[in-house]
Amino acid sequence: MNASKEKKMSNITLTIDGKEIQARSGMTVLEAALENGISIPHLCYHPELKPPGACRLCMVEMADGELVTACRVTVKTGMNIQTRSEAVDKAVRPIIELLVAYHHDNCRGCPANGKCELQKIMALYKIDRKRVRQLQPPAETKPVAALTSYFQYDANRCIQCGICLSTCEQVCGESLLHYVGRGHEMSVAFYGDEKKCEHCLKCLARCPVGALFIQTT
Ligand code: FES
Repeated sequence: MNASKEKKMSNITLTIDGKEIQARSGMTVLEAALENGISIPHLCYHPELKPPGACRLCMVEMADGELVTACRVTVKTGMNIQTRSEAVDKAVRPIIELLVAYHHDNCRGCPANGKCELQKIMALYKIDRKRVRQLQPPAETKPVAALTSYFQYDANRCIQCGICLSTCEQVCGESLLHYVGRGHEMSVAFYGDEKKCEHCLKCLARCPVGALFIQTT
Protein backbone atom coordinates (compact mmCIF):
# COMPACT_ATOMS: atom_id res chain seq x y z
CA MET A 1 0.00 0.00 0.00
CA ASN A 2 1.49 3.36 -0.92
CA ALA A 3 1.90 6.08 1.74
CA SER A 4 -0.78 8.44 0.41
CA LYS A 5 -3.35 5.62 0.21
CA GLU A 6 -2.48 4.54 3.76
CA LYS A 7 -2.81 8.13 5.02
CA LYS A 8 -6.18 8.52 3.27
CA MET A 9 -7.44 5.29 4.83
CA SER A 10 -6.44 6.36 8.29
CA ASN A 11 -8.45 9.57 8.04
CA ILE A 12 -11.18 9.96 10.60
CA THR A 13 -13.81 12.67 10.52
CA LEU A 14 -15.15 14.03 13.77
CA THR A 15 -16.76 17.21 14.99
CA ILE A 16 -15.36 19.43 17.73
CA ASP A 17 -17.30 22.52 18.77
CA GLY A 18 -19.41 22.25 15.63
CA LYS A 19 -16.35 22.20 13.36
CA GLU A 20 -15.74 19.12 11.24
CA ILE A 21 -12.09 18.07 11.40
CA GLN A 22 -9.89 15.29 10.07
CA ALA A 23 -7.70 13.15 12.31
CA ARG A 24 -5.58 10.05 11.98
CA SER A 25 -6.40 6.72 13.53
CA GLY A 26 -4.75 6.31 16.95
CA MET A 27 -4.67 10.04 17.71
CA THR A 28 -6.26 11.24 20.92
CA VAL A 29 -9.05 13.80 20.89
CA LEU A 30 -6.61 16.29 22.46
CA GLU A 31 -4.01 15.75 19.72
CA ALA A 32 -6.64 16.05 16.99
CA ALA A 33 -7.98 19.27 18.53
CA LEU A 34 -4.53 20.85 18.94
CA GLU A 35 -3.50 19.88 15.41
CA ASN A 36 -6.63 21.67 14.15
CA GLY A 37 -6.07 24.83 16.18
CA ILE A 38 -8.74 24.07 18.80
CA SER A 39 -7.68 24.96 22.35
CA ILE A 40 -8.29 22.47 25.13
CA PRO A 41 -6.60 23.25 28.46
CA HIS A 42 -3.94 20.70 29.36
CA LEU A 43 -1.09 20.65 31.85
CA CYS A 44 0.06 17.03 32.18
CA TYR A 45 0.10 16.22 28.46
CA HIS A 46 3.33 16.27 26.47
CA PRO A 47 3.45 14.90 22.89
CA GLU A 48 6.48 12.69 23.65
CA LEU A 49 5.11 11.16 26.86
CA LYS A 50 2.35 8.71 27.68
CA PRO A 51 -0.57 10.81 28.96
CA PRO A 52 -0.98 10.23 32.71
CA GLY A 53 -4.43 11.87 32.82
CA ALA A 54 -3.43 13.58 36.06
CA CYS A 55 -4.50 17.21 35.74
CA ARG A 56 -8.10 16.57 34.51
CA LEU A 57 -8.10 19.91 32.72
CA CYS A 58 -8.64 18.47 29.25
CA MET A 59 -12.18 17.31 30.04
CA VAL A 60 -14.60 17.54 27.12
CA GLU A 61 -18.26 16.59 26.70
CA MET A 62 -19.29 13.76 24.38
CA ALA A 63 -22.60 13.82 22.48
CA ASP A 64 -24.26 11.66 25.17
CA GLY A 65 -23.21 14.09 27.90
CA GLU A 66 -20.36 11.97 29.24
CA LEU A 67 -17.28 13.92 30.36
CA VAL A 68 -13.98 12.37 29.28
CA THR A 69 -10.34 13.43 29.41
CA ALA A 70 -9.39 14.32 25.84
CA CYS A 71 -5.77 13.20 26.30
CA ARG A 72 -6.83 9.61 26.95
CA VAL A 73 -9.62 9.05 24.43
CA THR A 74 -8.78 8.12 20.86
CA VAL A 75 -10.67 9.60 17.93
CA LYS A 76 -13.49 7.72 16.22
CA THR A 77 -15.44 8.59 13.12
CA GLY A 78 -18.64 10.48 13.88
CA MET A 79 -17.60 11.69 17.33
CA ASN A 80 -19.27 14.96 18.29
CA ILE A 81 -17.45 16.79 21.06
CA GLN A 82 -17.88 20.03 22.94
CA THR A 83 -14.78 21.54 24.55
CA ARG A 84 -16.73 24.31 26.31
CA SER A 85 -20.16 23.54 27.74
CA GLU A 86 -21.86 24.16 31.06
CA ALA A 87 -20.92 20.67 32.24
CA VAL A 88 -17.27 21.09 31.19
CA ASP A 89 -17.10 24.49 32.84
CA LYS A 90 -18.56 23.11 36.07
CA ALA A 91 -15.94 20.35 36.13
CA VAL A 92 -12.87 22.23 34.96
CA ARG A 93 -13.21 25.74 36.41
CA PRO A 94 -12.87 24.68 40.08
CA ILE A 95 -9.71 22.72 39.22
CA ILE A 96 -8.16 25.78 37.58
CA GLU A 97 -9.21 28.05 40.44
CA LEU A 98 -7.63 25.77 43.02
CA LEU A 99 -4.44 25.46 40.98
CA VAL A 100 -4.21 29.24 40.76
CA ALA A 101 -5.01 29.68 44.46
CA TYR A 102 -2.12 27.42 45.45
CA HIS A 103 0.23 28.79 42.80
CA HIS A 104 2.64 31.65 43.55
CA ASP A 105 1.47 35.02 42.20
CA ASN A 106 4.80 36.52 41.27
CA CYS A 107 4.66 36.02 37.50
CA ARG A 108 7.14 38.83 36.86
CA GLY A 109 10.00 36.96 38.50
CA CYS A 110 9.17 33.62 36.88
CA PRO A 111 11.19 32.24 33.93
CA ALA A 112 7.95 30.93 32.38
CA ASN A 113 6.26 34.35 32.36
CA GLY A 114 4.66 34.91 28.95
CA LYS A 115 4.85 31.27 27.92
CA CYS A 116 3.33 29.70 31.03
CA GLU A 117 0.60 27.17 30.31
CA LEU A 118 -1.29 28.16 33.46
CA GLN A 119 -1.39 31.80 32.35
CA LYS A 120 -2.84 30.68 28.99
CA ILE A 121 -5.49 28.56 30.72
CA MET A 122 -6.41 31.42 33.06
CA ALA A 123 -6.90 33.69 30.05
CA LEU A 124 -8.95 31.07 28.19
CA TYR A 125 -11.29 30.59 31.17
CA LYS A 126 -11.22 34.27 32.20
CA ILE A 127 -10.40 33.26 35.76
CA ASP A 128 -11.70 35.71 38.34
CA ARG A 129 -8.73 36.53 40.60
CA LYS A 130 -11.04 37.99 43.28
CA ARG A 131 -12.83 34.65 43.63
CA VAL A 132 -9.52 32.82 43.62
CA ARG A 133 -8.25 35.01 46.46
CA GLN A 134 -11.08 33.71 48.64
CA LEU A 135 -9.82 30.17 48.06
CA GLN A 136 -6.24 31.10 48.84
CA PRO A 137 -4.56 29.43 51.82
CA PRO A 138 -2.69 31.65 54.34
CA ALA A 139 0.39 33.12 52.70
CA GLU A 140 3.25 30.71 53.01
CA THR A 141 6.32 30.61 50.82
CA LYS A 142 8.14 27.34 50.45
CA PRO A 143 11.91 27.58 50.06
CA VAL A 144 13.48 27.18 46.64
CA ALA A 145 15.54 23.96 46.60
CA ALA A 146 18.66 23.07 44.61
CA LEU A 147 17.77 19.64 43.22
CA THR A 148 21.18 19.15 41.57
CA SER A 149 24.20 21.35 41.03
CA TYR A 150 22.56 22.34 37.71
CA PHE A 151 18.99 23.19 38.53
CA GLN A 152 16.61 24.46 41.17
CA TYR A 153 13.01 23.75 42.04
CA ASP A 154 10.37 26.19 43.25
CA ALA A 155 7.50 24.29 44.90
CA ASN A 156 5.44 27.50 44.94
CA ARG A 157 5.19 27.30 41.16
CA CYS A 158 4.81 23.52 40.77
CA ILE A 159 1.38 22.30 39.64
CA GLN A 160 2.28 18.61 40.15
CA CYS A 161 1.68 17.61 36.54
CA GLY A 162 4.38 14.90 36.66
CA ILE A 163 5.93 15.83 33.29
CA CYS A 164 9.42 16.23 34.83
CA LEU A 165 9.25 12.78 36.45
CA SER A 166 8.09 11.06 33.24
CA THR A 167 10.70 12.95 31.21
CA CYS A 168 13.49 11.85 33.56
CA GLU A 169 12.29 8.25 33.30
CA GLN A 170 12.20 8.52 29.50
CA VAL A 171 15.77 9.89 29.34
CA CYS A 172 17.50 7.96 32.15
CA GLY A 173 15.46 4.73 32.13
CA GLU A 174 14.36 5.43 35.71
CA SER A 175 13.26 8.71 37.23
CA LEU A 176 15.75 10.40 39.53
CA LEU A 177 12.98 12.88 40.34
CA HIS A 178 10.29 11.78 42.77
CA TYR A 179 7.32 13.23 44.58
CA VAL A 180 7.62 13.65 48.33
CA GLY A 181 4.76 14.59 50.68
CA ARG A 182 1.03 14.51 50.00
CA GLY A 183 -1.69 16.81 48.67
CA HIS A 184 -0.71 20.47 48.46
CA GLU A 185 2.41 19.70 50.48
CA MET A 186 3.64 17.41 47.71
CA SER A 187 6.84 18.53 46.01
CA VAL A 188 9.54 17.19 43.70
CA ALA A 189 12.86 15.89 45.04
CA PHE A 190 15.96 14.42 43.44
CA TYR A 191 17.05 11.01 44.67
CA GLY A 192 20.13 9.03 43.80
CA ASP A 193 23.51 9.66 42.27
CA GLU A 194 23.73 12.97 40.39
CA LYS A 195 26.20 11.27 38.02
CA LYS A 196 23.25 9.30 36.65
CA CYS A 197 21.61 12.56 35.56
CA GLU A 198 22.24 13.18 31.85
CA HIS A 199 21.96 16.96 32.38
CA CYS A 200 19.80 17.07 29.27
CA LEU A 201 17.61 19.69 31.02
CA LYS A 202 14.56 18.36 29.20
CA CYS A 203 12.71 18.33 32.53
CA LEU A 204 13.23 22.11 32.71
CA ALA A 205 12.28 22.69 29.10
CA ARG A 206 9.06 20.71 29.43
CA CYS A 207 7.92 22.16 32.78
CA PRO A 208 4.73 24.07 31.83
CA VAL A 209 5.04 26.65 34.61
CA GLY A 210 8.74 27.35 35.27
CA ALA A 211 8.99 25.37 38.53
CA LEU A 212 12.36 23.93 37.43
CA PHE A 213 15.04 26.34 36.35
CA ILE A 214 18.81 26.69 35.94
CA GLN A 215 20.90 27.13 39.06
CA THR A 216 22.21 30.68 38.92
CA THR A 217 24.58 30.83 41.91
S1 FES B 1 -3.90 16.87 29.87
FE1 FES B 1 -5.43 15.38 30.03
S2 FES B 1 -5.57 14.98 32.14
FE2 FES B 1 -3.94 16.41 31.99
